[in-house]
Amino acid sequence: MISDQADKLRKMAQGVRQQIEAEMLGNLRKTRTIVVSSGKGGVGKSTLALNLSLSLCREGKRVILLDADLGLANIDVMLGLSPQYHVQHLVQGRKSIKEIIINGPLGLKLIPGGSGINELANLSDAELKRIMTEIGKLDGDYDYMIIDTGAGISKNVISFLLAADEVIIITTPEPTSLTDAYGCIKTIAKQQYQGALAVVINQVGDHNEGLMVAEKFRLVCRQFLEVDIRMLGSIPADSLVGDVVRQQKALLEAYPKSNPAKSIQQIARRLINLDGAAAPADPRGSGIKKFFQKITRFMRDNN
Ligand SMILES: Nc1ncnc2c1ncn2[C@@H]1O[C@H](COP(=O)(O)OP(=O)(O)O)[C@@H](O)[C@H]1O
Ligand SMILES: [Mg+2]
Repeated sequence: MISDQADKLRKMAQGVRQQIEAEMLGNLRKTRTIVVSSGKGGVGKSTLALNLSLSLCREGKRVILLDADLGLANIDVMLGLSPQYHVQHLVQGRKSIKEIIINGPLGLKLIPGGSGINELANLSDAELKRIMTEIGKLDGDYDYMIIDTGAGISKNVISFLLAADEVIIITTPEPTSLTDAYGCIKTIAKQQYQGALAVVINQVGDHNEGLMVAEKFRLVCRQFLEVDIRMLGSIPADSLVGDVVRQQKALLEAYPKSNPAKSIQQIARRLINLDGAAAPADPRGSGIKKFFQKITRFMRDNN
């Protein structure tokens, strides 16, 4: 009898503990930060960042897109939006994060970087902290924060890459683009990048070309840099991609059934599945706040 009661109590205690753990995990749930970057410019970063974000929205995810190509912000232009406020209003303390977020298609939220903003590298500690505090308030409100960056390996861009939960490098099959993509990965590998790493091959003739290029790229990175890169997919070269820019619409919105749109939707699905497998064991190590903390620390250490 007595052992029966003890058993019941033990089970009750176990149930309560599981419930507490589940609730704590819920509170700790963080937004996954994904940076889209490339070595070379003009290879399709903004196209992928925008349409991947929209594809994730279509998969029922809550997504916020940060346009951090701070020199030449253009996601808003691609969508025909003219936001009133940008990240610099936040830096200057003139606006809150809620005031600068704008609505994109399919429920996407957008943080416009604005053109002419000082590079993060030139911001003071106080200004960086303001960005961190304000944008950090969004942590957990979204499943994904996708970050579109400028090309190359400026201090600014490198800090973003090193801080991300996941980096997606986009390249075309052209040797110059591949070499620069490799250089970019080499730079972050040398600096002990800890997050996940993926590659997308853009402007391919067909799917097989994408697979072949990605496989070679993966092998070179493994052999010479000892890093593992997962292949997320490829996107065909298609004149529709340029057409929608002129129409100031997103591809995923205007032509969701086109080949490049379907390819990007597939990339989004793969990303979600892989993220499930690769989610960090300790969610406290990731998220938006952590992302900006890491950037701030990097800027401080490298000034
Ligand atoms: N798959 C594609 N097929 C055809 N044109 C593309 C494709 N991807 C990108 N482009 C075009 O290449 C140019 C650069 O793309 P963009 O996304 O702005 O690159 P980035 O952000 O890397 O500078 C744009 O004119 C865009 O329309
Ligand atoms: Mg761009």
